[in-house]
Amino acid sequence: MTFVVTDNCIKCKYTDCVEVCPVDCFYEGPNFLVIHPDECIDCALCEPECPANAIFAEDEVPADQQHFTELNAELADIWPNITEKKDPLPDAEEWDGVPDKLQHLER
Ligand code: SF4
Ligand code: F3S
Repeated sequence: MTFVVTDNCIKCKYTDCVEVCPVDCFYEGPNFLVIHPDECIDCALCEPECPANAIFAEDEVPADQQHFTELNAELADIWPNITEKKDPLPDAEEWDGVPDKLQHLER
């Protein structure tokens, strides 16, 4: 099983998750991170680290966010690896909790 980054990461990208991942399986786009499903070892360390509560185990992804499982797999093959925490996006606090941010995803 893998873990999945979902909607509330978009335009926040706090990156606290990256620091705890033992297998460095996070990949970074302009305003969103994804987890590579073939590399995640299901350790669950990242889930409680996300200030935006955007990370879920694959079998606990909310019903209205199921499409993020496939999106993580797709983008993890394209985007570069990220292994170190960096500053969140400048307006992260304002965007934290705003619903349906997929329309703002930059690729
Ligand atoms: Fe990395 Fe573990 Fe999170 Fe998977 S569950 S992305 S291995 S920290
Ligand atoms: Fe995104 Fe949360 Fe990581 S906002 S970058 S999944 S800490």
